[in-house]
Amino acid sequence: MRTQVAIIGAGPAGMLLSHLLAAEGVESVVVETRTEDYVASRIRAGILEQSSVDLLHAAGLGERLAREGDQHRGIHLQWPEERHHLDFVDLTGRSVWVYGQTEVQKDLVAARTAGGQEVHYGVSGTALHDLESDSPSVTFTSADGAPTRVTASVVVGCDGSFGPSRASVPDTIRQTWEKVYPYSWLGILADVAPSTDELIYAWHPDGFAMHSMRSETVSRLYLQVPNGTDLDDWSDDRIWSSLATRLGHGQDGWTLTPGPITERSVLPMRSFVQTPMRHGRMFLAGDAAHIVPPTGAKGLNLAVADVGLLAPALVDLVRNDDSRLADAYSDTALRRVWRCTHFSWWMTTMLHTSGDEFDQQLQLSQLRWVATSEAGATGLAENYAGLPIGF
Ligand code: FAD
Ligand code: DHB
Repeated sequence: MRTQVAIIGAGPAGMLLSHLLAAEGVESVVVETRTEDYVASRIRAGILEQSSVDLLHAAGLGERLAREGDQHRGIHLQWPEERHHLDFVDLTGRSVWVYGQTEVQKDLVAARTAGGQEVHYGVSGTALHDLESDSPSVTFTSADGAPTRVTASVVVGCDGSFGPSRASVPDTIRQTWEKVYPYSWLGILADVAPSTDELIYAWHPDGFAMHSMRSETVSRLYLQVPNGTDLDDWSDDRIWSSLATRLGHGQDGWTLTPGPITERSVLPMRSFVQTPMRHGRMFLAGDAAHIVPPTGAKGLNLAVADVGLLAPALVDLVRNDDSRLADAYSDTALRRVWRCTHFSWWMTTMLHTSGDEFDQQLQLSQLRWVATSEAGATGLAENYAGLPIGF
């Protein structure tokens, strides 16, 4: 079959790209290894920054987000005996929204289904071909076992950290950077009202903890744990009592209310960047090109920002044969990628304990400066609430 843009991966990057292209009359075909239900129910990111929200609204995808999303002015930053609120709106005029990736994905799928989008779920053996030609293609075996080829003007790899797209750039051209952190997150979802109005990021000598949320009745919490942690070693009681200790239960009258845990997982943490984000007629967007550790909630937002740049570039390329934006895409996107890579690394290394007592004193000094100096707080706020698309 033939289309204008072949998109590999039906996660947020792939589905949003397909949506933005369709709005400009550019046709795409999406291929995805997993089932539609699996993709829609994966519990991942929870925070949308201002520019992501603006883009989703501009794309006509903001109706449920406006109704059900929860706008937050900032975050709480804490360490033992102290909790400080950073008000991003006062500091930068920008805010963030609690709206789960599961919800973004549902909105995207609903919009693409209404638009008659072709998505091939459950495929296997995805391979990319002829990327340096004007007629690149993607082959795969469809869910019902049929060998299939999609030929296009452009192929876009939105296939996350384990897809084949990034490795299709020749080794002589691609450059990669990677940092693996010596700790992981144990994340839970719990059927209990959040014990906080806005997210709490907590430094603690036992390890980092965070209190996030998904709704008025669902809480999302994370604990720093050693790499290789076995979930079987973490009973519900151990999880809740570690969270209570690290989040400061009892401090200044604050209490953490536990509840039934409905989902739990261990998340390894790494930073990864591959450049360039384009090879011939193949472009990379989202986790296919870069991974950030989750502290600071940048992964999903960066995927949205990539696609926000790539969509107009591809429209110009395939509809008007104008390659200027496409030629600039990798360099432009990478400016934001490296900014978010640095911010995520900075938040991660400031808040997780792994070093000696000297390192801990430096972390505490840094936290105190960020929480109490307007200059320090503004730096965190500007990065967390997100720089404008195209930064
Ligand atoms: P993905 O969402 O990974 O989508 C890629 C898609 O490509 C997938 O559906 C995959 O099945 C598909 N695919 C892969 N291989 C192939 C193939 N061969 N053929 C066809 N399709 C293929 N970010 C945060 O900001 N906060 C968080 O709390 C957070 N938690 C996370 C937890 C986990 C377990 C993970 C993995 C990520 C988390 N992230 C978080 C990161 C965030 O979810 C991602 O940055 C975001 O999903 C990126 O979107 P994407 O579309 O680029 O990639
Ligand atoms: C969430 C995840 C993050 O990494 C973060 O920094 C904030 C919130 C979340 O899953 O809600």
